[in-house]
Amino acid sequence: MGSITWDRNTGWAGEPYWKEATFYQVYPASFKDSNGDGWGDLPGLISEIDYLEELGVDVIWVSPIFESPQKDMGYDVSDYQKIYEPYGSLENVDTLLREAHRRGMKVILDLVVNHTSQEHEWFRESRSSKTNPKRDWYIWKPARYIDGVRHPPTNWRSYFAGPTWTWDEHTQEYYLHLYAPDQPDLNWENEDCRRAIYDNTMRFWLDRGVDGFRIDTVNKYSKRQDFIDAPVTDANSPHQSAPEMWCNGPRIHEFIREMNDEVLGPYRAVSVGELSNTPNPEQVIPYVSAAARELDMVFEFSVIRLGTGNILGPKYIYQPFPLSRLKTLTEKWQSFVEGTDAWTTAFIENHDNARAVSRFGDTSTPEMWVRSAKTIALWQVTLTGTLFIYQGQEIGMTNMPSSWGIEEYKDVESSGFYAEAVASGDEERVRKTLHGLSLLARDHSRIPFQWDDSPNAGFTAAGATPWMRVHDDYRSLNVARQRGDPASILSFYKSALRLRKQHRELFVFGTFKLVDPEDESIFAYVKRDARGGSGKKAVVVLNMSGEEGRLGPDVTAAMDGDEPRLLVSTRGKEGDAKIKGGKPVMSAWEGRVYVNYE
Ligand code: NOJ
Repeated sequence: MGSITWDRNTGWAGEPYWKEATFYQVYPASFKDSNGDGWGDLPGLISEIDYLEELGVDVIWVSPIFESPQKDMGYDVSDYQKIYEPYGSLENVDTLLREAHRRGMKVILDLVVNHTSQEHEWFRESRSSKTNPKRDWYIWKPARYIDGVRHPPTNWRSYFAGPTWTWDEHTQEYYLHLYAPDQPDLNWENEDCRRAIYDNTMRFWLDRGVDGFRIDTVNKYSKRQDFIDAPVTDANSPHQSAPEMWCNGPRIHEFIREMNDEVLGPYRAVSVGELSNTPNPEQVIPYVSAAARELDMVFEFSVIRLGTGNILGPKYIYQPFPLSRLKTLTEKWQSFVEGTDAWTTAFIENHDNARAVSRFGDTSTPEMWVRSAKTIALWQVTLTGTLFIYQGQEIGMTNMPSSWGIEEYKDVESSGFYAEAVASGDEERVRKTLHGLSLLARDHSRIPFQWDDSPNAGFTAAGATPWMRVHDDYRSLNVARQRGDPASILSFYKSALRLRKQHRELFVFGTFKLVDPEDESIFAYVKRDARGGSGKKAVVVLNMSGEEGRLGPDVTAAMDGDEPRLLVSTRGKEGDAKIKGGKPVMSAWEGRVYVNYE
């Protein structure tokens, strides 16, 4: 495949390094435990940094490691400058940074500043009295009384089911929380609060050598200030979906630009924001246009949310979707940056979603599992934008077994939706919710990483009790088994990640055009060199079905008459990569890439 000459620090053709870097998300509680307490930690992560380097990772994103009561797995921070003890210490972070930087890798942390934990000192002060100087750092409102009965200020529904307001007995007001009651929202309208966020959370870590942030819920800092009821869309609930009230609010671009100009920019820190509820490219571009000086990139969730219901409503009532939907959404979020100075991302897993191979692939047999995981890999590595991989994706980790009961689901969101279904007294709803959770719950991606076939999958000591149950299949699905096997999913990811960089002008920077958008088995697209004017083209053909012998599109025609050369097939030497009448004859769950050059 030739050698890689890419320099991690300078990037390609004057582009910033992070555009073609491969990011890898570590969910620290579940990655590697070094001290046998059943909870992953920083020394464990540091001990596996060579593994990440070997895989081809350039930037490690570590999900929250800060002090926290862990009501939402660290997305409820009680002290931004301390490390949650089971994860380790500040010195461990320094070591992680040193070890990563020594290898030319970078590290970004999760910045969770839409809300804090209710145990954060700022909130303790804020709730202590109505006249406390930090009262206004959170969002407090008086109750509404209807017929003498106390009601929250608005009818908004929170992410984890239930209302967005919790009553505080002591000061006799409600505070706002878009997530759990334990996660009060900060008031970004208050300038002192914003300054404290920049200093206390951002500069503190950047001064310590962190390379940037994944920014949690970045588009919810500015809320509409009229605090009115949302229209009733669910007549059976007192709590209504209301993202238009608190998402992409009137001052959002001002706040993010300020954050960039005051902190991110001066430190040249890379930023990737979590941008939910924003499925319109015209609304996304202002966040990621280079000229706007806000964020380097964002995660837009249309593709990864396929199959879920309304996230502020019946999220876990599964909604089947055709392949054509996956294809057109991919095209939409690939091509929306073409001709602009904006940038996009590619990802199909994270800690808030179930496993890709279980959702978009085929786990019905070991053979189909391997094939479909590789085809998903080929899909991802040929997409334009910065690529993000989630821990375990590279070995094809799957959802928790369907035989596991609700007691194995530990996530606050899963419990919230399940409790809501049970409280409704509607058995059908409970059954459907359990089914939806078995396909889509956030828990699936949070179970311990499978390193080897020793007890507890090598995640923690043999006699320890991991915080979440280890998958039943760990003896056959683990890193050790795949590491030395050239036909494994892991080996495929390694070579595919190298291939992505060798052909960066197509895969990282190219344009994207679907071929045969209506085909419900074959996912095919053309990538073209958009910038270099080299005339290079690639046609990616993915058989997203278990059907043998499906015909792909006419590859020569897709390349405007150029002669196609096979660059790679997920079947490698096992496949015969046949072409009939110009159309690739695809094996079940096979992926191939053709290019028009040697
Ligand atoms: C998004 C995070 O990814 C998710 O895990 C968390 O529950 C919410 N934001 C709240 O911080």
